[in-house]
Order: sequence, then C-alpha cells, then structure tokens
Amino acid sequence: MKTSVQTLGIIMDGNRRYATQKGLPRIEGHRSGLDILVKCIEWCNEFGIKDVAFYAFSTENWKRSKQEVDALMGLLEYMLTEKKEDILKQDVRIRFVGDITKIPKKLQKLIVEMESQTKKHTKTVWICLSYGGRAEIVTAANTITGTITETNLEKSLWTADMPDLDMVIRTGGNHRLSNFLLWKASYAELYFTKTKWPAFTKQHLKRSFEWYEKNIQINNGK
Ligand code: IPE
Ligand code: IPE
Ligand code: MG
Repeated sequence: MKTSVQTLGIIMDGNRRYATQKGLPRIEGHRSGLDILVKCIEWCNEFGIKDVAFYAFSTENWKRSKQEVDALMGLLEYMLTEKKEDILKQDVRIRFVGDITKIPKKLQKLIVEMESQTKKHTKTVWICLSYGGRAEIVTAANTITGTITETNLEKSLWTADMPDLDMVIRTGGNHRLSNFLLWKASYAELYFTKTKWPAFTKQHLKRSFEWYEKNIQINNGK
C-alpha cells in the first residue's frame, strides 16, 4: 500500500496500562513498547515514510518515580547497544531531539555515535527524548537576538530540519498532544486509537493511513 503521508508523528502511549492489564510489572510494558518502536521503524520504512518522529520520553516524564526513570534509561541503553544492529539494518538516519544534556553522559555518547553513523541516509527517524514542545519553542526564542518572526524562530527549533507533520497518531486512548511537536503538528491530521502502544501492529498503522487518505479527500472537498 502507498500512503501520501510523508511526515508522521507517533505518541507511543499506554505502555504501563498494557502491562497492568496483563498482570505484569510496568517496566514490562515499556520493554514491549521498545520492541514495537523498533518494528515500527521498519514498517514506516516499508510504507515509504520520509520522516517519522516518535515521542519516547517527555520533559514531564522526568517527574515519574526514580525507579521508573532509571528503568527507562536502562531501556534506552539497551536500544542504543543490543538493538542497535536492528536499527542500523533499516538504513535510516536517526536523530534525537530534546534536552539531551539531562540524559546520563554515557548514553549521550552512544546517541551522538548512532547519529553520526547514520547521517548519510535520507529517510529520517526522529526520537523525541527529554522533549517538550514548549521547551523547544522557548529555547529557540532565546537564541534570537532581534525581532522574533515565524521564519527565524522555526529555523532555530531543534526540529528545524523536520518537515511539518502530515499526521500524528496517538495510541492508548487519550485525545491530547501532551506537549508533542507543538510547532510541527500545527496542521497535522490527528489520529487516535485505543490500542495501547505495545499492542500496535503494522495492520493498525495501515488502518491509520487509510483513514488519512479518506480524510484528506474530505478536506479537499472531493
Ligand atoms: C508511554 O506509556 C511511554 C512513556 C511515556 C515513557 P506510559 O508509561 O505513559 O503508559 P500509560 O499511558 O501510563 O499506560
Ligand atoms: C506522552 O505520554 C509522552 C510519551 C508518549 C513519551 P504521557 O503518558 O507521558 O502523557 P500524559 O501524561 O498522558 O499527558
Ligand atoms: Mg501515558
């Protein structure tokens, strides 16, 4: 199937509820969620998506318990080491966006390594990590010395090189953006599904693209 979605954002929500429903510790939900993230990179590649942005960890997520934050950082390390080959196989450029200075130093190094190792590829996977849309806009505004305009502010965003999002998918049943790519999502079609992230499949992704095709036709007045 072909899709006209070129730039996609995904809010991967519902990991803990998935685990709880299965009677598993919450971290198991995050672990399964990471497996789906890696698979989803592959699915997006197969569908020909040029840019896909995943919301992995928000500015607000730092307020979770130390135990959960540590476990999530452990999974990030696992992704940057054990899962690295699976990601590199996809021939996609990996770029992290967010306040990476808050991430443990040794992981920052692995992040920079992965980014530079993949920088020749044209399709881009953006991982929003320690990311908040408001923080992104405020940080950009603070770099501008003269008058702020939409054009110069946009150029100063962490996501300056990311095209506007065509569609945002949020799993887990909530209908909100939770501070995700506020600038780039301004004109995105918003697709919500009750499916929790670890249960998300290629079929679900396909369904969202079909929904998108129908929707843009309606918007075009056809
Ligand atoms: C999303 O799942 C993953 C992160 C925010 C890191 P949650 O951890 O928010 O899981 P729920 O939404 O509470 O089920
Ligand atoms: C959004 O999920 C952030 C990520 C998916 C990383 P949250 O679970 O943190 O958001 P809220 O609390 O439902 O708004
Ligand atoms: Mg959540």
